[in-house]
Amino acid sequence: MQDFFYFCPSDSAEPTDPRPIRIRIYRMDVNRVYKEDCLTGLGRIPDGTVDLVFTDPPYYQNRAGNLTGLKNHKDVITEFKFDGFASEEDYLGFMEKVIRELYRVCKDGAAGYMWCGDDYVSFLNRIVEKAGFQFRKVIHWHKTNPFPAISTRKMFANSMEMCIHFSKGSPKTWNFKTVNEMHNFIESPICMGAERMKHETQKPLRVCIPYIEISSDPGDLVLDPFMGSGTTAVAAMMLGRKFIGFEKEDRYCDIIRERFGKYLEKHPETPEGGLPEVISGRSGPSK
Ligand SMILES: C[S@@+](CC[C@H](N)C(=O)[O-])C[C@H]1O[C@@H](n2cnc3c(N)ncnc32)[C@H](O)[C@@H]1O
Repeated sequence: MQDFFYFCPSDSAEPTDPRPIRIRIYRMDVNRVYKEDCLTGLGRIPDGTVDLVFTDPPYYQNRAGNLTGLKNHKDVITEFKFDGFASEEDYLGFMEKVIRELYRVCKDGAAGYMWCGDDYVSFLNRIVEKAGFQFRKVIHWHKTNPFPAISTRKMFANSMEMCIHFSKGSPKTWNFKTVNEMHNFIESPICMGAERMKHETQKPLRVCIPYIEISSDPGDLVLDPFMGSGTTAVAAMMLGRKFIGFEKEDRYCDIIRERFGKYLEKHPETPEGGLPEVISGRSGPSK
C-alpha cells in the first residue's frame, strides 16, 4: 500500500512559543474509502497531494415533498432527496467548507469535476471561484431514460444533470480526445443492469470515465469525498489511477465493499496503488 506522510507543527506551538516545535505525522493510505464524514477525513490529507477531484455531492434538491405516490422510481427518489440539510444556507455553508478543503489538498494544476443539479449550479460555481479555483465549464449529462414527464405535474422531465469543471490554476493534464468527444455534453441512460448497485444516486461509469481520462494520467491520485457506491474508485482502478475517498453511511460502505469484491473477481491483478479497501476513518491517521 502506498502512503503519504504529512508533517505539521503541534497546534499548541505559537510562533512566539520558545519551546521546540513538536512534529506530528499523519498517514493515510491510497486506494481506500474511509467511512467517515468527509470534512473530518479531508483534514488529514496533506496540502497539494491530489491530482484530480471527481465527486458527486448531495444535491439538496428540496423542491417537492408532495409526490409520495411516485417514490418507487429511482430517478424520482434522486430528485426529492433532502440530504439532511436544515436549509439552503446550511447546505451552501457545508459545500463551501468542502470546496475550500478541496482547494487546499489539490496540487497546482489539478482539475475538479463536481456533479450538481440545476437548482444550485450557479451558487456552486461562485463558491468554487471564491475558494480559489478557476471555473472552466459546466458539462451537461442528458439522461436518455429519465422518469417521464406526467401531464398533471406541468413540468418537463428531469433529464439533465450538470457537472462543474474547475481547476487549480491552468490544468496540468488535458488528454485531448477527438474534437467531437470534447463537447460539454454527454448522453447516457441512468445506471442500469449489472453495473447497478443499491444506491439511489449511482452515476453510470460511462459519464465518469471520459473526464477522468482527460484530466489525469495513469498513476495519478483521484479524490472523491462523497463516494456513494464507489463509482469514482472503480473508474480510477479501471484507468490505472489511484484513489482516496470518504463515505459516511454504513450501508453505502457495504455496497462499496461488495463492488470492490466484484471488481477484483473480474480484474484479479492488483490495481495501481494497491488493493482497494473500505475502512473506518478512525484507523486512518497514525501518529
Ligand atoms: C450523490 S451520492 C454519490 C453517488 C456516487 N457518485 C455513486 O455513483 O454512487 C452522495 C454520497 O455522499 C455521501 N455523503 C453525504 N454527506 C457526506 C459527508 N459529509 N461525508 C461523507 N459522505 C457524505 C452520501 O451518503 C451519498 O452516498
